[in-house]
Amino acid sequence: MRPISRRTLVLGGLAAAGATALPAHSSIITATAAVPYPFQLGVASGEPDASSVVLWTRLAPSPLNADGQGGMANTNVTVDWQVSTNDRFTTLVTQGQVTATYGAAHSVHVIANGLNPDSDYYYRFRAQGHLSPVGRTRTAPADDTNGRDLVMAFTSCAHYEEGYYTAYRRMAEDNPGLILFLGDYIYEYPATAGRTRLHLGATEIVSLADYRRRYAQYKSDPDLQAAHAVAPWIVVPDDHEVENNYANMVRADSTPSLTTAQWTARRTAAYQAYYENMPLRPAQANNGNSIPLYRRLRWGNLATFHMLDTRQYRNDQACGDGWKICSDADLASRSLPGNAQETWLLDGLAQHSGTWGIIGQQVFFARRFNSTGASMDSWDGYRASRARIQQGWVDRATRNPVVLTGDVHRAWASNLVADYNNPASAVIGSELVTSSVTSSGDGDGATAIPDVGTNPWLKFYNNRRGYVRTTISPTQLRADYRAVAKVSEHDAAASTVKSFVIEEGRPGLQAV
Ligand SMILES: [Fe+2]
Repeated sequence: MRPISRRTLVLGGLAAAGATALPAHSSIITATAAVPYPFQLGVASGEPDASSVVLWTRLAPSPLNADGQGGMANTNVTVDWQVSTNDRFTTLVTQGQVTATYGAAHSVHVIANGLNPDSDYYYRFRAQGHLSPVGRTRTAPADDTNGRDLVMAFTSCAHYEEGYYTAYRRMAEDNPGLILFLGDYIYEYPATAGRTRLHLGATEIVSLADYRRRYAQYKSDPDLQAAHAVAPWIVVPDDHEVENNYANMVRADSTPSLTTAQWTARRTAAYQAYYENMPLRPAQANNGNSIPLYRRLRWGNLATFHMLDTRQYRNDQACGDGWKICSDADLASRSLPGNAQETWLLDGLAQHSGTWGIIGQQVFFARRFNSTGASMDSWDGYRASRARIQQGWVDRATRNPVVLTGDVHRAWASNLVADYNNPASAVIGSELVTSSVTSSGDGDGATAIPDVGTNPWLKFYNNRRGYVRTTISPTQLRADYRAVAKVSEHDAAASTVKSFVIEEGRPGLQAV
C-alpha cells in the first residue's frame, strides 16, 4: 500500500495540495501552531448539473470527539473556496467564502455556479490558515448534447467493522466521472467485538452527536476520501443511515426501546447528520423529521438519473417482514416509494429527456423468490407498486430503463420482464445490483445464481465485495462488475468478474 499523508491529495496521479497560497483576504485567520489541521474528513462534491456543482467539507480537527463537534469551538469560522481548471489553481474559475457554523457541525455546502458544461474542475478550501486536500469534480453535459462518454461507478453498504474500504480506493483509481451511492453509507450498530475494525460507541447510535461522530469515523478513512475526491457523487440513503429496516415511522427493531417522540428525534438527528455529511444541495436539507431526497438529475441527452427514496414513505413491510409469501404483498394500496413519489417517478419516466433512464434506488427490484418466499423489505413485498412502475414505463415508452440497486451485499444482474408469472413475457428493462463496499465481509466467491430455476430472469450472481463500473455512451451501457478479493486485509486487488452490455433500444442484458 502506498503511504498516504492526510495533507496529500488523495487522487492518484495529481499533484499535492497546498503548494499555492490563496489570495489574501482580510478575514482569513492566520495559521498558528495552536490550530490543528481541520480538513481531516476530506472534501467532496456532488449533484452536478450543466453549470454548477456542490462542494463539501466539514471542519473537524479532532473528528472522533464524543460530542460530534469534531474538536471545533462554538464559534463561526470563515471558509474560503476556490475552483480552478487545473490542480495547481493557476487559473481560477470562481471562488468565494462561506461561514461554517457550530450548529451545522462546521459542515459547508457551497454551490459553485457559472461552470461550463461537460467540464472537469478542481476545488479546495482554506480555513484557519490551512488548505484542504484538492478534489476533482465535473459538470453534466448541456441539455441538448451527449457530452463525453460517462464512466459512472456505483456501490452501497459500507459497514466499517466488516472490512477495509478497498472498493472505494479501486473506484477512485478507475477515474470515474461520476459516482452513485445507493445507501448504507454508515451503519448504526455499536462496536462488535472481534470485527476487522471497531465502531466507536458501545451502544447503538441515537443522538445527533452519535450520528455526527459515526460519519466522522467513516469519513476519516483515506480510501473513502479518495473516492469522494475523484468525482462528484449522487447519494441516496437506505435504512442504516437511520436504523435497520425502518419503514416510514414504523421501526423494525425494538432495541433500543424508544418512545414515539424519541424515535422522531432520532430520525431528525439522523437526517440532519446525513445532510451535514453529504455533498447535497441545500434544497435537500432536512426539515426536522423529513428530508426531501428523491430527485432527478439530467446528464445532457445521455442519461437522466431518477434517484429514489424507498425508505421514508413506504408502507410497513408485509407479512411481518423477513422472507415470506403472503397475499398482503400484492395489495394495490401498498407502495414502496409512496404514492407521491410513484407519481413523480412516472412523470419523469414520461419526459424522454435522456437516452438512458437510470433509476438509482436501494432494494432488489426484480422478482426473487426462493422456497420460503421473498424478501418483504424489497420490491417483492410491494408487488403492485413495482407493477405500476414497470407498466408505467412501458406505457410511456420510456427510453432504456435501467434500475440500479444496492442493499443485498452481493452482485446480481437481471432482466426485468413484463410479467414475472410468465417468464416468456417481454424483457422491458434491466437491473444492475452492486455488491457492498464491505458489508457481509470477504464473501465466498460463489457464482451459482441462487434460485435461478424459479427466477430465470436473473443472469448473474457473485459473492464478493465491490462495485459496478459503467461506461455509458449514446449506443450502449457497459457494466463491469468489480470484485475485491478480500476486505479483511487492506488494499487487496480488484478484478472484473463479469461484464454485460445493454444496447440502446434493446432492453435486457447482453453478455460480453
Ligand atoms: Fe446494507
